[in-house]
Amino acid sequence: MSVPAPLRLAILISGRGSNMLAIARACTTGSIAASVSLVIADRADAGGVTSAAQLGIPTAVVQRSTARDAAAFEAALIATLEAQRPDVIALAGFMRILSAGFVNRFLGRMFNIHPSLLPAYRGLHTHRRVLAAREPQHGASVHFVTPELDGGPVVLQSRVAVAPLDTEATLSARVQATEHIIYPQVLAWFAQRRLAWRDGAAWLDGTRLATPVVEDFNAPA
Ligand code: GRF
Repeated sequence: MSVPAPLRLAILISGRGSNMLAIARACTTGSIAASVSLVIADRADAGGVTSAAQLGIPTAVVQRSTARDAAAFEAALIATLEAQRPDVIALAGFMRILSAGFVNRFLGRMFNIHPSLLPAYRGLHTHRRVLAAREPQHGASVHFVTPELDGGPVVLQSRVAVAPLDTEATLSARVQATEHIIYPQVLAWFAQRRLAWRDGAAWLDGTRLATPVVEDFNAPA
């Protein structure tokens, strides 16, 4: 059986980049058959830029300076991305809403991680909202990016129990630890060509995912 060529992966971040680092490590160890060809941040002070550079990963900062320059920002982002010819793009804590034009350009090869059990709790402050609603379960979702915000087909979810004494900080830390497992897993499937985008849906091992794969982090070992 022939081994697929390693993919060129670009990662977009806005913050400290812990997911980016988990993905980069998985590429280095060979768990994901890809190499991180570029990390782009939309803020010069994103901590992940320094971490990526320390690993020898090429980095770029593409900033949006005014509220009105959305089109120019996306044009710069596209130019920076396409210069690297990425096969796959991972949004990892990238805090910009991307236009339909941008998303459709990379449809089927762009992923995002969202800290909730989608379709529940789209948008911001998910941990706070989950605690306020006294939800028993929480988690994170890795999904294909479509023009609908946090609305693309979900491939894999992590599920964690909400503990009675959880605060936003403890809950987000527990969810984030699972993100660092499920995001590399999805990218590994994609790089192995086990995961594909077809007819507006996610397909894993030739089967259309009617519901996401769920990894339960409460299960006894
Ligand atoms: C993650 O919790 C992710 O779910 C959300 O933004 C956060 C990014 O964290 N989309 P990091 O920059 O990867 O540490």
